Amino acid sequence: MKKSFVFLLVLTLALYFSSAYSQDFISCVESNSANASSISELIYTPGNASFQPIWQFAVQNTRFLKPSTPRPSIIVTPTDESLVQTSLLCAKKHGYEIRIRSGGHDFEGLSYTADVPFVMIDLNNMRSIDIDVANSTAWVGTGAVLGELYYSIAQKSNNTLYFPGGTWPTVGISGLIGGGGTGNLLRKYATAGDNVLDARIIDVNGKILDRESMGEDLFWAIRGGVASSFGVVVAWKLQLVPVPEKVTVFIVNRTLEQGATEIFFKYQSLATFEDRNLYIRSQAASEFIGNTTQKTMRIIFQGIYQGTTNELIPVMDKVFPELGVTREICQEMTSVQSTLVFFGRPSTTPLEILTNRSAIPKSNSKTKSNFVRTPIPISGLEKIWSKFFENDLSGGLLIIPSGGRMDDYAETATPYPHRAGTLYLLATSVNFVGQANDTTPVSLRRLAWLQSLEELLTPYVSQNPRESYVNNNDLDIGVGAANYMEASVWGERYWKRDNFRRLIRIKANVDPENFFKFPQSIPVFKRRGLAQ
Ligand SMILES: Cc1cc2nc3c(=O)[nH]c(=O)nc-3n(C[C@H](O)[C@H](O)[C@H](O)COP(=O)(O)OP(=O)(O)OC[C@H]3O[C@@H](n4cnc5c(N)ncnc54)[C@H](O)[C@@H]3O)c2cc1C
Ligand SMILES: *[C@@H]1O[C@H](CO)[C@@H](O)[C@H](O)[C@H]1NC(C)=O
Ligand SMILES: *[C@@H]1O[C@H](CO)[C@@H](O)[C@H](O)[C@H]1NC(C)=O
Ligand SMILES: *[C@@H]1O[C@H](CO)[C@@H](O)[C@H](O)[C@H]1NC(C)=O
Ligand SMILES: *[C@@H]1O[C@H](CO)[C@@H](O)[C@H](O)[C@H]1NC(C)=O
Ligand SMILES: *[C@@H]1O[C@H](CO)[C@@H](O)[C@H](O)[C@H]1NC(C)=O
Ligand SMILES: *[C@@H]1O[C@H](CO)[C@@H](O)[C@H](O)[C@H]1NC(C)=O
Ligand SMILES: *[C@@H]1O[C@H](CO)[C@@H](O)[C@H](O)[C@H]1NC(C)=O
Ligand SMILES: *[C@@H]1O[C@H](CO)[C@@H](O)[C@H](O)[C@H]1NC(C)=O
Repeated sequence: MKKSFVFLLVLTLALYFSSAYSQDFISCVESNSANASSISELIYTPGNASFQPIWQFAVQNTRFLKPSTPRPSIIVTPTDESLVQTSLLCAKKHGYEIRIRSGGHDFEGLSYTADVPFVMIDLNNMRSIDIDVANSTAWVGTGAVLGELYYSIAQKSNNTLYFPGGTWPTVGISGLIGGGGTGNLLRKYATAGDNVLDARIIDVNGKILDRESMGEDLFWAIRGGVASSFGVVVAWKLQLVPVPEKVTVFIVNRTLEQGATEIFFKYQSLATFEDRNLYIRSQAASEFIGNTTQKTMRIIFQGIYQGTTNELIPVMDKVFPELGVTREICQEMTSVQSTLVFFGRPSTTPLEILTNRSAIPKSNSKTKSNFVRTPIPISGLEKIWSKFFENDLSGGLLIIPSGGRMDDYAETATPYPHRAGTLYLLATSVNFVGQANDTTPVSLRRLAWLQSLEELLTPYVSQNPRESYVNNNDLDIGVGAANYMEASVWGERYWKRDNFRRLIRIKANVDPENFFKFPQSIPVFKRRGLAQ
């Protein structure tokens, strides 16, 4: 009785003080703005009816929708740079951390949840897209997502230009570039981060910097070192790349009974194939054979060729006849239509779906990633398949091949270090379909299975460091940040040693107080003797 009274009292006081604090923040923003009444329409606290829908709109992994996920104290939805500036200053002044959200695809929900009181800056209102076809460039507002970007480029350039980013339409341009960014054009044009010409970023002091005023160190860091460790990017200037009017797409699948293991064995070396126009992504999962209780694996290969069917067929006959790609299964289409196909829609779907975020499904899953530098032997593949047979069909593999243009860049050219010698990215995941949340007994079994798969993969993936892709961030690999030894456990996996050390040096220069802090953000170390 007494205990619960004390608890209620504490809760009431906590609520009182948190709303008092958020009022402080709001007053601060208003008093620093030219038009306080228009500003108040862009700030939401939990009492506003729209608070929950706005937060939820870009929670792209529904795993984080459960009631126990911590929400922001305040959501700010800037329409221009000035509200970003004042939000940073007022958050700092009133003791809030900041979380920055663009597309909302962060695999750990780090752009919209935190264990501490925080202000979420939602950049959804800053997504202008300004394309200069003659110069093959575009200035893109930070909140734009890939579907809108591709749609605009295709329209404005009459299908002659594109941008080398990922395929999923609701992925944000900012998170994508911030972690490197890979997609169907990577063998021809490398990462999204490699194709950025300029950026506008607001630093911890509220200063707006462009490439020239931020300097090459910071410009290097935000194109693969995760931009949110350094400031709020408000716009990117992109280098657009030429694409043929028609590309060729094919989709082939094989089960183990149809020789999938041998085909996959050869496919692992796609990165070493010479032709940079050829890219083949693959996905694998287990399923029951017919209506029996016996399982098999089905591997789906999704290919795209920057050229016509007539050009593709001789290439496939020469380098990869085992896949059995015939003219009949090839489809020619525009690049923007290929984006539709790669997210599972027919090429004839009206293109406008790419600009409609409500029409794009959300995921509900946990992902891990590794990079493979030596083909996994047949015996290893068979062990992986057996592991999948222990799973309840909730597991999956995604393979993103590397090579080509990727190998032209030094490991230190941008923070993304998975360059020459990398065969492919191997992402593993489980979904929580059919489960109330990710902590039910079944969900926990799936997560434990994912971890056991991770252990099984150890001998087959890159070592020293065991590389992971920061855009598939995974807090299980460590969050320690007290000193370099602790942080290197995860930092060297994402960036390797030289890049991680450079990111730490740049961070110490641009944000020495570590205001832009979150799990696995670039750490700031207290100097010996100055601790405490
Ligand atoms: C379905 C799906 C498909 C994907 N496909 C690909 C793919 O093909 N290729 C690929 O490389 N990756 C892919 N990813 C991974 C994706 O690139 C990353 O999750 C990326 O971080 C998402 O960016 P976002 O803007 O959507 O996410 P958010 O959650 O909004 O942001 C991610 C991170 O970037 C920070 N950030 C966002 N905006 C800013 C800003 N303006 N300034 C500073 N920091 C900012 C956030 O704070 C957070 O740390 C995919 C992810 C999913 C879920
Ligand atoms: C301030 O913003 C409000 C609401 O957007 C608008 O109606 C008003 O005209 C603005 N005032 C000035 C001086 O810009
Ligand atoms: C949120 O609620 C407060 C208090 O009712 C109100 O003043 C403010 O304008 C609301 N904000 C929005 C964006 O609706
Ligand atoms: C290319 O960009 C420059 C600088 O922004 C501009 O002056 C020029 O007009 C552009 N060129 C064309 C052909 O549009
Ligand atoms: C767009 O490209 C097609 C195919 O090359 C061409 O027929 C058409 O005239 C072009 N349209 C414009 C407006 O340039
Ligand atoms: C696999 O390919 C066959 C044609 O070869 C097709 O009928 C089937 O739908 C495909 N299955 C999947 C799951 O893609
Ligand atoms: C599989 O389904 C077919 C057709 O529905 C049926 O005839 C057959 O008996 C089933 N086999 C098994 C093993 O259940
Ligand atoms: C966007 O998609 C949603 C869900 O499919 C649909 O209800 C809505 O009408 C679409 N909006 C537009 C503008 O097409
Ligand atoms: C998860 O779902 C279960 C079953 O509905 C429920 O008992 C539990 O409280 C939920 N946990 C969280 C953290 O939401």
